[in-house]
Amino acid sequence: MTDALYREHILDLYKNPRNVGELKGATHRHREFNPLCGDDIEMQVLVKDNQVQDIKFQGHGCALSIAASSLLTEKVKKMTINEIMKLTKDDVVEMMGISMGPVRIKCALLPLETLQKTVMKHAGN
Ligand code: FES
Repeated sequence: MTDALYREHILDLYKNPRNVGELKGATHRHREFNPLCGDDIEMQVLVKDNQVQDIKFQGHGCALSIAASSLLTEKVKKMTINEIMKLTKDDVVEMMGISMGPVRIKCALLPLETLQKTVMKHAGN
């Protein structure tokens, strides 16, 4: 895909994100916000046998943070907690498929930071 097509894909996901809403039976949830803009994302995860069975998110964000939340929640279904903790900025950049400057990358990283804090709570239990 070209950069323009990726951008279109990001906008599509912003308008119609996957896995949005309240997750019934979530074992863990955590809300984080981007201090640069105040936008916030809450991740809700159903973990069983150290593996993500289901995941949803809700909150307010820009096109990048919502699209990244949508892509990330699709990507991590059935992943183990350890696999999620190993995801990095590079995985997010690859998942997004577009180049981002230092401010915009914060938007795209917000969902991963939120998710890792969510599942860390699980590891602590
Ligand atoms: Fe707020 Fe992107 S501008 S998360």
